[in-house]
Amino acid sequence: MGLKILGIETSCDETAVGVVEDGHRLLSNIVSSQVELHSPYGGVVPEVASRQHIRDMAPAVEKALADSGLNLSEIDVVAATYGPGLAGALLTGLNTAKALSFSLGKPLVGVNHLEGHIYASWLTRAGDDSPADSPGFPLACLVASGGHTDLILMEQHGSYRLVGRTRDDAAGEAFDKAARILGLGFPGGPEIQRVSQGATAGTLPPLPRAWMRDTLDFSFSGVKTALLHLAQAQGVYPPDATPDSAEPGRAEMDELIGEMAANFQESLVEVMVVKTLEMARRYGVKGIILGGGVTANARLRAEITRASALPVIIPPPVLCTDNGAMIAACAYFQYRRGEQFGLELDIDPALPLG
Ligand code: KG4
Ligand code: ZN
Repeated sequence: MGLKILGIETSCDETAVGVVEDGHRLLSNIVSSQVELHSPYGGVVPEVASRQHIRDMAPAVEKALADSGLNLSEIDVVAATYGPGLAGALLTGLNTAKALSFSLGKPLVGVNHLEGHIYASWLTRAGDDSPADSPGFPLACLVASGGHTDLILMEQHGSYRLVGRTRDDAAGEAFDKAARILGLGFPGGPEIQRVSQGATAGTLPPLPRAWMRDTLDFSFSGVKTALLHLAQAQGVYPPDATPDSAEPGRAEMDELIGEMAANFQESLVEVMVVKTLEMARRYGVKGIILGGGVTANARLRAEITRASALPVIIPPPVLCTDNGAMIAACAYFQYRRGEQFGLELDIDPALPLG
């Protein structure tokens, strides 16, 4: 009889609930996305997100339980993200978890969202096959999402050192802004990936890479500005509000957009791969873990796997983007090491890791 944890994630724009047994066995994973709601604004509107979380929460919990084949009374621990993230959004998930914990008389665990992204790599990898056993600690973690681009040294379960971070835009934020410049949809990362896949190398110059050689920090705002200038020079920006595939010159314009998107993606991927490998070398780690929405990127996944001599663990794309299962997986290890959380636990929108 394993320990069954219900994990709730509402730090941004997904209302997500998952049930996980013993920190690795995925029993269910429900993600209600608000993408369509925020899409007209080209980004997440915090107040809209909070209100939608309230609407989607109870159905998501019910569906996650139904999919897991368990009753509420069979859940051993209730977990939720308590930071970092949007305050109003975090509140809905944490308060739901508190209410469940109180009414069921089951322990509550508060989870750091970034730590959750790391533990997505434990899902489906059991026993000796878990990253803690194979390849084993220490591990280099790249967490790249809409709000973070962090290089984290994981020395043990629960022991982290932040050794690199973005000094301006997060990688996901840069992808989202680049997509807006190119007139593509939201969220930008998957759109940039999609139009890059069909792109052919033309005559455009490559976009710059911010190496900042002596540090493991990142900077992505310069390449975004370079893209904007190039898009303006090429007549791609401001984008056509109502693109029509029959209009003369549209096919050429789409080709140009594809090439720019591919060049942008290449710049971000190359810097993330090189810096992650540099960190792995400096700290003598045994393996590399990727997590966060940006690590769903096919080009990043292929490139780091190709370039690394060390084992690279990357969750399937659905577990890279925000989900409740990763919160439940992480909570298992916190619970096992005796971390205690009472009902006085509050959200912390700027919660650090390490
Ligand atoms: O981890 P996540 O789901 O939410 C946050 O914690 O922020 O990450 C969302 C970010 C968005 O910026 C989105 O554009 C990006 O992840 N993203 C991607 C891809 N899928 C999602 N970026 C690049 N390529 C993708 N395939
Ligand atoms: Zn996230």
